Amino acid sequence: MNLLISAGLLALLGSFSSLVVAQQAAAVAYAPKFTLCPPNTSLIRSAGTSKQSLSPSESSYISARKSQVLPSAWSSYLKNVKQAAKSNNIALPAYVSAILSQPTTFPNLGIATSGGGYRAAIFGAGVLNALDGRNLTSSGVGTGGLLQAASYLSGLSGGSWLLGSLIQADFPPLLDLIFGTSSGLGGWNAQVDLLQISTDPNVIAQFVGLLVQESAGKFLTGFPVTFTDIWARTLSRHFVTGTTAANFFDTNLTHGAGVTLSSITQLPTFAQHAQPFPIIVANSLTATDTEFPPLMNPIFEFTPFEFGSFDPQLSAFTPTQFLGSPNNSLCVTNMDQLGFVEGISSNLFSAFNTSETDLLNSNIGPIISALQSNFGQKNIRLDSSQIPNPFFGLSKGSFVDSDQTLLTLVDGGLDGEVIPLQPLLVKARKVDTIIAIDASADTLDNFAAGASVVASSQRAALFPKSYSFPPVPASNTSFLSQNLTTRPTFFGCNTRTTDDAPLLIYIANGGAPLGQTPVTNTTTLQTTYPAAEIQQMVEQTFDIATQGISTIKNGVASKEKTRDCEEWGVQELFG
Ligand SMILES: *[C@@H]1O[C@H](CO)[C@@H](O)[C@H](O)[C@H]1NC(C)=O
Ligand SMILES: *[C@@H]1O[C@H](CO)[C@@H](O)[C@H](O)[C@H]1NC(C)=O
Ligand SMILES: *[C@@H]1O[C@H](CO)[C@@H](O)[C@H](O)[C@H]1NC(C)=O
Ligand SMILES: *[C@@H]1O[C@H](CO)[C@@H](O)[C@H](O)[C@H]1NC(C)=O
Ligand SMILES: *[C@@H]1O[C@H](CO)[C@@H](O)[C@H](O)[C@H]1NC(C)=O
Ligand SMILES: *[C@@H]1O[C@H](CO)[C@@H](O)[C@H](O)[C@H]1NC(C)=O
Ligand SMILES: *[C@@H]1O[C@H](CO)[C@@H](O)[C@H](O)[C@H]1NC(C)=O
Ligand SMILES: *[C@@H]1O[C@H](CO)[C@@H](O)[C@H](O)[C@H]1NC(C)=O
Repeated sequence: MNLLISAGLLALLGSFSSLVVAQQAAAVAYAPKFTLCPPNTSLIRSAGTSKQSLSPSESSYISARKSQVLPSAWSSYLKNVKQAAKSNNIALPAYVSAILSQPTTFPNLGIATSGGGYRAAIFGAGVLNALDGRNLTSSGVGTGGLLQAASYLSGLSGGSWLLGSLIQADFPPLLDLIFGTSSGLGGWNAQVDLLQISTDPNVIAQFVGLLVQESAGKFLTGFPVTFTDIWARTLSRHFVTGTTAANFFDTNLTHGAGVTLSSITQLPTFAQHAQPFPIIVANSLTATDTEFPPLMNPIFEFTPFEFGSFDPQLSAFTPTQFLGSPNNSLCVTNMDQLGFVEGISSNLFSAFNTSETDLLNSNIGPIISALQSNFGQKNIRLDSSQIPNPFFGLSKGSFVDSDQTLLTLVDGGLDGEVIPLQPLLVKARKVDTIIAIDASADTLDNFAAGASVVASSQRAALFPKSYSFPPVPASNTSFLSQNLTTRPTFFGCNTRTTDDAPLLIYIANGGAPLGQTPVTNTTTLQTTYPAAEIQQMVEQTFDIATQGISTIKNGVASKEKTRDCEEWGVQELFG
């Protein structure tokens, strides 16, 4: 992001009367609400130690999806595979034909879509489009249908923007989601920048001022307001339905405020178990951490049902719907706003805080100053996300934030794990196959080089009783030298019988395929995308994700190399 708010313009952000601006539609809708808790509300669920358990709501979602949705979803996908092989004159190995004719057990598939800002949201959407059975091109090449067959879909940072917008829009086809082509969807408004909304500094200041004002209701209700809330209010204009490019400044509209993660459960596709179960990931900073969380810190997850951590230090959850509640008689609702959750998952701005001066001189400095001058909150980190700690007093001795009244949450990728794999490694979820979409910028030219997979492997090794991970190269240098980022790559082909590590199917944004000019390696700081650029990126991502199929380029049929997994057997993917 390239924020051109100079310190001199801070005056334009000005100060305002919280009481007055808190009456605006978005400020009202964004404020948490106090309510009497329903009888028998429990704010803490222990997920157990040696054998962990899922929330009953998640279990029943998954079990309904498994019995009512997945059999036909896998069967459609397998039909697509068969048809694609036939129309491309590819002979499938005998074992594949056997599986196709007699599918018995199916994989328990999770898809993880990485961070990396708008680039990652677009690349992730491009891969999901290639896996979407509703897209005839995707089903025609035999990859379409896997999205429908997945049990889980996790996202973090830019990937959480994609995931959050997808679920609140009731799981539309990906291109409709981005461009708002189907009725009622506003699209991502990606041609409007996230913060630098205009070339006129006064307009930028007016816009940012409005975002600060929209947090006033939350502040007056007694909750901390930090940079994440400001970030949430702009993300909400892009990734929650309700805003068009023409009405960004309309203060009569809520701009996605009030749309909560827990309310997703009311939407038709969720009620019908027709979408993979969504999980959004965030990291945490302890009281002594400065900019980056070490791998040992608990990783938190948000689902429509629960917020908490399966990491063994904590292994506890609270209902997402009641996030922020002081006790089980006085409940808080409306804190789990989707824009806020996406803001938490993508707040990497603690990285700017190498010192207080550096932070104030950074691109977000004027906003930090505006928060300080308008709300004057003491002793809280304004560069990160702050929520009342639901786990205060819990697991003393193992949970590092047990004595903190506020939890400090940051971007889910700040510990180096940019792909949200951790929730899919939780043994209680029994995920045996993971499609890992990686749009990290590891290289100087903004391509992925496997660093996130290396970090996840290192973290899994820190918790050997909780997580199993397939063998992967030890560094991004070996990922690059073995070309593991330039085509879909399979890890864990031979390990499943000895160890319950999942099969990891790694689809990286590692370079343009088929000799094309690369368009998918934009910088993480690019926060404006014209529609034509997104279209090009999605098309190239389709080629990246479907390499290995027979393709016709410039009228010449060319057989690309088939998938690269020496040790891998298709039978493992299918059952
Ligand atoms: C609350 O819990 C108690 C004890 O488990 C039970 O007897 C009672 O029926 C519950 N009340 C409601 C409204 O669920
Ligand atoms: C906002 O609402 C007020 C009062 O209803 C109305 O006068 C005004 O025109 C509205 N503004 C816009 C941009 O629609
Ligand atoms: C719940 O929290 C509220 C607000 O902090 C407090 O006033 C109330 O006494 C608490 N109730 C119980 C039963 O602890
Ligand atoms: C900057 O980071 C320090 C910890 O290193 C923290 O105490 C401080 O609150 C942060 N500043 C802001 C404005 O968030
Ligand atoms: C490996 O990835 C890390 C993290 O993104 C990056 O800092 C480093 O430069 C990368 N090294 C190579 C050789 O790409
Ligand atoms: C994308 O990759 C190409 C090829 O390495 C490079 O020339 C270009 O500078 C990269 N673009 C960005 C924005 O890094
Ligand atoms: C990686 O790709 C490059 C360029 O296509 C090729 O020259 C090299 O031999 C490949 N290396 C491996 C280990 O496949
Ligand atoms: C299906 O995907 C292809 C490849 O990206 C794209 O060109 C096409 O527009 C998509 N179709 C629909 C209906 O989204």
